[in-house]
Amino acid sequence: MSDATPAALAAFAACVTVDDLEEVARARLSKVAYDYFRSGSDEEHTLRRNRDAWTTYEIWYRTLVDVSSPRIATTVLGTDVSSPILVAPTAYHALADAGGERATARAAAESGTLYVASTLATTTLEDVAAAAPAGPRWFQLYVHKDREFTARLVERAKAAGYAAIVVTCDTPVLGRRCADVRNAFALPAGMVMANLVETLPPDLRDGAGSELARFVASRHDAAFTWKDLAELADTCAPLPLVVKGLVRGDDARAALDSGARAVWVSNHGGRQLDLAPATADGLVDIVAAIGGRAEIYVDGGIRSGTHALVALGLGARAVFVGRPVLWGLGAAGQDGVTRVLSLLREELVRAMQLAGCADVNAVDRDLVRRSRLFHP
Ligand SMILES: Cc1cc2nc3c(=O)[nH]c(=O)nc-3n(C[C@H](O)[C@H](O)[C@H](O)COP(=O)(O)O)c2cc1C
Repeated sequence: MSDATPAALAAFAACVTVDDLEEVARARLSKVAYDYFRSGSDEEHTLRRNRDAWTTYEIWYRTLVDVSSPRIATTVLGTDVSSPILVAPTAYHALADAGGERATARAAAESGTLYVASTLATTTLEDVAAAAPAGPRWFQLYVHKDREFTARLVERAKAAGYAAIVVTCDTPVLGRRCADVRNAFALPAGMVMANLVETLPPDLRDGAGSELARFVASRHDAAFTWKDLAELADTCAPLPLVVKGLVRGDDARAALDSGARAVWVSNHGGRQLDLAPATADGLVDIVAAIGGRAEIYVDGGIRSGTHALVALGLGARAVFVGRPVLWGLGAAGQDGVTRVLSLLREELVRAMQLAGCADVNAVDRDLVRRSRLFHP
């Protein structure tokens, strides 16, 4: 945080919650960058519902359990992680801090947490890997119309030591983020979609609207289907394929039948289809359909350890956070990401202790129940 004023350092040091870090990031970021990170699609109902849904549950805590040494280490697809709170793929980290994805990868590795690098990173996947060679990492893939290019991305990820491929399936076209349209969102000069340089059209910046929306419309394959997913699973082998962006039980079943090894409940942080269900509700549907057959992860609106504990109680193996990491990065670069991860970890440990859970892998379904306040 070399460019920080004493006041900014003091504000960062005083942060107690993820929301506090968002405020510090907001003060440090340009309006265009803050809006890009914060916004959801259309009227932002799903963005709000994601977070609200966790709070419609209650944690029916148990008492007189020995919680003197809580264990929160776990595994995801066999990869050891120090906690079940992991880093979701998000685009354009250089917009949040000059350290970009390298800073995020280093902070995640130091915390023993998994980092999922985005196809739309401002740092190449090879440079992300080199920044934190020992850190657990997966690569998030967008399927391009150019299937050979898509396969090349997978090969590059294999060569750079990524342990799984995560294919995002909720983005056949880009949701409309109104703030980005109003701001005519585009990457500032000098920042690029580093993994895609060879495919970029000469000028993405002409005309009004969002650069990203036009990029996705021209490059992403909106004709990608379950049949293609089975082929992609073969391309990714021996790496496991994780399918991200599902909310329905029948889709989760189709994903496993097509060769996916794990399912990631997500609606892209409320940035794609507005009025899509909250991910807490999607998680319940998907656990009912495939629980016990494969690992299930979830993201969306998780801003505290109690939210994470509810998700684990509902059947998630682990949770991912998107914006919280961006707020940490935007507030104080690598230190900010470290801070956000340790804060969430401390909150989860405290919530587990107060709930009578000694081991994160023993959190059971009966711990969480829908509140009668919301569902009398
Ligand atoms: C600014 C931003 C950029 C994102 N970029 C990607 C991306 O490149 N690939 C992807 O699969 N998901 C992307 N996502 C979705 C996240 O992986 C994740 O699903 C979402 O952020 C979780 O919700 P949360 O931000 O409330 O934690 C992005 C989300 C945000 C907020």
